[in-house]
Amino acid sequence: MTAIITVENLTKKFGSITAVDGISFEVQEGTIFGFLGPNGAGKTTTINILCTLLSPTSGGASIDGHDCMKESPAVRKNIGIVFQDNTLDKELTAYENLLFHSYLYNVPKTERKGRIDDALNFVGLYERKDDTVKKFSGGMKRRLEVARSIIHQPKVLFLDEPTLGLDPQSRTNLWEFISELPKKHAVTIFMTTHYMEEAEICDKIAIIDKGKIIAQGSPEELKKMVGGDVIYLKTRNNVAAIDEIKASLNLDAEEKNGEIFISVSKGDACIPKLINTLADAVVSVRLQRPTLNDVFLKLTGKAIRPEAVSGGDELKESIRSYRKKFDRG
Ligand SMILES: Nc1ncnc2c1ncn2[C@@H]1O[C@H](COP(=O)(O)OP(=O)(O)O)[C@@H](O)[C@H]1O
Ligand SMILES: [Mg+2]
Repeated sequence: MTAIITVENLTKKFGSITAVDGISFEVQEGTIFGFLGPNGAGKTTTINILCTLLSPTSGGASIDGHDCMKESPAVRKNIGIVFQDNTLDKELTAYENLLFHSYLYNVPKTERKGRIDDALNFVGLYERKDDTVKKFSGGMKRRLEVARSIIHQPKVLFLDEPTLGLDPQSRTNLWEFISELPKKHAVTIFMTTHYMEEAEICDKIAIIDKGKIIAQGSPEELKKMVGGDVIYLKTRNNVAAIDEIKASLNLDAEEKNGEIFISVSKGDACIPKLINTLADAVVSVRLQRPTLNDVFLKLTGKAIRPEAVSGGDELKESIRSYRKKFDRG
C-alpha cells in the first residue's frame, strides 16, 4: 500500500483560535478515509489546506508526492472536491454543468462526451442529462456534483459533509455511489462527516475534536476501544439461567430490567453456546455491538450533535475563494 495523502504535524491558527492542532496521518491509495468530528473540530480547515485553498501555520501536507503549499497547481490537477453546499449552475442542464467543468480542467475534446456520459450513468442521472439543474432534488444535485468531481479523473476526491441536508434515503443512495468510487474510478476518498453511521463505510477513520486527532483506526479497531459486545437474553427463569451461564460457560451475567445482560468480546460466537446450554429456557436473544458513537462518547465525554452543524456562510466564503483561486491557477 502506498500513502497518497501525507499530513505531518499540521497546524492552522486563525488569530487566537487553533483550528487544526498538530495533526498527522496518512491515507492509503484506493481507500476511503473519514474525518469524523463535531462542528468546529477543524475538518473543513484541514480539507482547505489539502486542497491548496489555505496555507497552514506550520507543518506540511502532500498529495501524490506533491507538496500542497509549494506545488499547488500539480495538487489541484489531481484532486476533485464536493463541498458541503451546492456549487452547480442551476440554469444549465446536468450535461452542461459537467461540460463546463471539463473545459475548466482541460479534458481532451475527444474524451469529453464519453467521460460525461460515464459519470452521469454512474450516478444514475443519464436519463436526466438534458434537464436544467433547478428541476433536481437535493439528492440528485449532490449526485451530479459527485459526477462532476470525477470528470477530470482526479486521484483524490474530497467530500466535505456531502450528505448534509439530504433526507435519509438520498443519503443512503449517495453513499452507495461513493463507496463504489475507489473500485470503479480508481480514486482515493477523503471525506468528512459528523454522522457516525456514515463513517462506517470508511476503511480508516480519524476522529478529530478541537483540532486534534484523538483516535485513528478502522471502524472495527475503534469500536474495540470501548470494549466488547453485550448480549441481552430473556429466559423462562432468569435466576436459574444466570446460575447455569456462570457454571457452564464461566461468563459474568446479571439481570437488568427482566433481561440477562452478558458482556463478551465476541457476541456472535457466544450466542450459539448460550442457546446450547440453556436450550428451551431461552425466550429471546439480542446482540448489541458498540457503535462509533460510543467511541466518541468515551473519548470526549460528549456526543456528536448533528443539529449543531455549522451554517452555510463560512462555507460559501470558502467556495468563493476556491473558485477565485481556481480560475486564476
Ligand atoms: N476563516 C476563519 N477565520 C477564523 N476562524 C475560523 C476560520 N475558519 C474556521 N475557523 C474556526 O476554526 C475552527 C474549525 O473550523 P472548521 O474547520 O470549519 O471546523 P469543522 O469543519 O470541523 O466544522 C472553528 O472554531 C472555526 O470557527
Ligand atoms: Mg466543516
